[in-house]
Amino acid sequence: MDLKGRDFLCLLDYTPEEIGYLLDLAEDLIAKKKAGVPHDAFRGKNIVLIFEKTSTRTRCSFEVAARDLGIGVTYLDPSGSQIGKKESIADTARVLASMFDGIEYRGFGQERVEELAEYSSVPVWNGLTNEFHPTQILADLLTVREKFGKLKGINFTYMGDARFNMGNSLMIGCAKMGLNFTACAPEGYFPDEKLIEKCRAVAAETGATLRFETDPVKGAEGADEIYTDVWVSMGEPDAVWDERIGALLPYQVNGELMKHAAQGAIFMHCLPAYHDHKTQIGKAVGDRYGLDALEVTDDVFESPASVVFDEAENRMHTIKAVIAATV
Ligand code: CP
Ligand code: NVA
Repeated sequence: MDLKGRDFLCLLDYTPEEIGYLLDLAEDLIAKKKAGVPHDAFRGKNIVLIFEKTSTRTRCSFEVAARDLGIGVTYLDPSGSQIGKKESIADTARVLASMFDGIEYRGFGQERVEELAEYSSVPVWNGLTNEFHPTQILADLLTVREKFGKLKGINFTYMGDARFNMGNSLMIGCAKMGLNFTACAPEGYFPDEKLIEKCRAVAAETGATLRFETDPVKGAEGADEIYTDVWVSMGEPDAVWDERIGALLPYQVNGELMKHAAQGAIFMHCLPAYHDHKTQIGKAVGDRYGLDALEVTDDVFESPASVVFDEAENRMHTIKAVIAATV
């Protein structure tokens, strides 16, 4: 499998075999790391991380993964570079590609990371856009495979706002790898019809199924896995909380909803999560609407079914696989 020089912008661009290869490579890199086997064969290489939105997991994953591989890292924070303000994406791409061996980008529209890739002669990795979050999906797929020993045939339910990066990308990942994907959301909160059509075509090849359900109990029934994400994403205005709470509260993942899932079902979340009042936003929004938690309750988040910190750790291992495969 040769992925050298490839961008990693959206999982639609990768075949099931290529995704499987990246998951296998991540497992191999986990084994090496745990056994203390050095895997720093990329000494002398350098990568740059552009973050136009904030991050904990993605930034740290790229930094640690790169260092483990022997790669030098430069981090450009949301206010620290000329990108977008004084310098176009196209010019930035050409400047950075002349110095670095790979470019990570987190920001707004998918068209920005695509333009970066078009003008860059080195691989560009999508660290989250409004539309897609492909490195997160690799970590999620690896976590499901670790828990169930397989991907094909797993009943995977995503609860909440399915129109944004996580709903879109999980649908693609499940379609590619043969899972039974359910988006459970209110009418109007499902992925774009054109993207659904593309995923239906993929699913027809892989044996995956796609279901769009508005009833949270039906969405949870028989699920091996229930996933949710924040109801208001980075870059969205505070003003949308009213509408989101109104529409999405019935889809909160709580103990009652988890009872409808299959025996041994797991709970997943890309994080960060509003499961209590220990964050500024969680407390402010919780107080405003009289809620202890938002998209997931604390009892579910802290339950043995919750694998959220395994997912978080797997961000680093899978991002390492993407860097190692493409640089
Ligand atoms: N899941 C995720 O992308 O987390 P960060 O925003 O902390 O990178
Ligand atoms: N939908 C969330 C995902 C965070 C990892 C956001 O874009 O803020």
